[in-house]
Amino acid sequence: MEIQADYLVIGTGIAGLSFALRAAETGTVAVVTKKERSETSTNYAQGGIASVFDLDDNFDLHIGDTLESGGGLCNEEIVKMVVVDGPTRIRELISMGVGFTHREGDDRNLALGMEGGHSKRRIVHTKDRTGSAVEQALLEHADQHPNITIYENHMAIDLISKTKMIKRGIVTTETRETCWGAYVLDVHKSRVITFLARVTVLCSGGAGKVYIYTSNPDIASGDGVAIGYRVGVKVANMEFVQFHPTCLYHPQAKNFLISEAVRGEGGILLDSHGRRFMEDYHPLKDLAYRDVVARSIDLELKKSGDECVYLDISHKPAPFIKEHFPNIHENCLKYGIDITKEPIPVVPAAHYMCGGLLTDADGLTNIDNLYAIGEVACTGLHGANRLASNSLLEALVFAKRAAERSAQDLARNRVRPFPQAPAWDPGRATDMEEQVVISHNWDEIRRFMWNYVGIVRTNRRLERAKTRVATIQEEIKEYYWDFLVTRDLLELRNLALVSELIITCASLRKESRGLHYNLDYPAVDDEHWQRDTVIWTFISDISNL
Ligand code: SIN
Repeated sequence: MEIQADYLVIGTGIAGLSFALRAAETGTVAVVTKKERSETSTNYAQGGIASVFDLDDNFDLHIGDTLESGGGLCNEEIVKMVVVDGPTRIRELISMGVGFTHREGDDRNLALGMEGGHSKRRIVHTKDRTGSAVEQALLEHADQHPNITIYENHMAIDLISKTKMIKRGIVTTETRETCWGAYVLDVHKSRVITFLARVTVLCSGGAGKVYIYTSNPDIASGDGVAIGYRVGVKVANMEFVQFHPTCLYHPQAKNFLISEAVRGEGGILLDSHGRRFMEDYHPLKDLAYRDVVARSIDLELKKSGDECVYLDISHKPAPFIKEHFPNIHENCLKYGIDITKEPIPVVPAAHYMCGGLLTDADGLTNIDNLYAIGEVACTGLHGANRLASNSLLEALVFAKRAAERSAQDLARNRVRPFPQAPAWDPGRATDMEEQVVISHNWDEIRRFMWNYVGIVRTNRRLERAKTRVATIQEEIKEYYWDFLVTRDLLELRNLALVSELIITCASLRKESRGLHYNLDYPAVDDEHWQRDTVIWTFISDISNL
């Protein structure tokens, strides 16, 4: 089966839907998502969107905070562009019906939250459910647009590239590597559909599921990075995995984040004796940059042997806590924790991938007609450590730029017919009998990534991880060719590749900077390493952008 569209968008979070809504003004848009349409990382985002709205704030301060957090690796031009465009993009969301929280008794001014690393209050939010408010509004608009079709339970397997077509004997006229859409698994019908598109946009989010402890939903298996890398997209800075300092620690709680906004409103971190410890690590104390807070907690836990630390906001009046954090309050109550009365047990967990598919200032990758937006991309905004609440902002700004640029690609490409892409060839594949092999390998990867490639790394741990992932990848190759593809198998294949990319980038960077901390190279080495780690298919190299 074949489906043709002007634009193919992979992912239905803030990046994918924002892009789709703009692109739909110039062409037809097919949007694929591997589960239900709202099952995205955006939907779980609590904190908000950082932007300059307060009279006491200005662009230079937001730019400065982003650069400082990024540890010398941000692209300053990109930072400026994103920060300056922020307020306009947020006003657009308001005009689409997103109900951001206002100051009490003041319909005109937004309530601005505070988070780690920000020198001013600038987090635009909808209480502690910002992501779901944005997701809902975007989905409502997308559902009503006649040019947008959303395909749920459709998972992209691989991109259709010029090289792939040549390998299958199809003659194409492009001189450069070009993308013409993707092979997509219809998960429920177990069939593979060829989606042909003149512009393809990867917006599939991050890869938190590479680690056993993560704030991310189950969908975050690094699909976009893996899919892009396999066709030769340059990948950068994968060593910079952001660990959020405060995820709920409870045996039954899965992936529940305690927003940094809790510390922004006065929450303090305590050890098991009730001692405030962040004062020992950074002048900004509990609101220091995320890499610093996560590493400090890790060190405290290693010193004490405790399983968690505590985040306490109970000194604030109960009505204030319930008003600001209704979602966190309700969820913690389910686990028997009343945050108005007692501290919350917390641990760091993998939260955000600062690296990804390398793009230019419009979200374009090194492959023609292929864009990447949102967490899947490495645009130069985040550097070695993303500033809190800059990610939804990045997605909004780049979705607009990519839509404008790709509309120009489309105007050029429309005159050319779609190529005759070969249909998906299942070969001799049969149904897999033992699903346990997949879950076992998935589990193994996530454990060794946590233990060897986590908050603190060493050369030896990285070497061990490299050996393990290579063995697992050999096994995956076998199942991939012998068995019919399923969502679980595809996710495992992607997860293993993304793990390999994180290990490779972490092994290449011989210093400690931002989110990458290696005990064998504990210092920052600006002379040799103030640059991105860039790798691409079959070639591992370091180069400046
Ligand atoms: C949070 O609410 O702490 C997450 C915000 C972010 O990751 O930017």
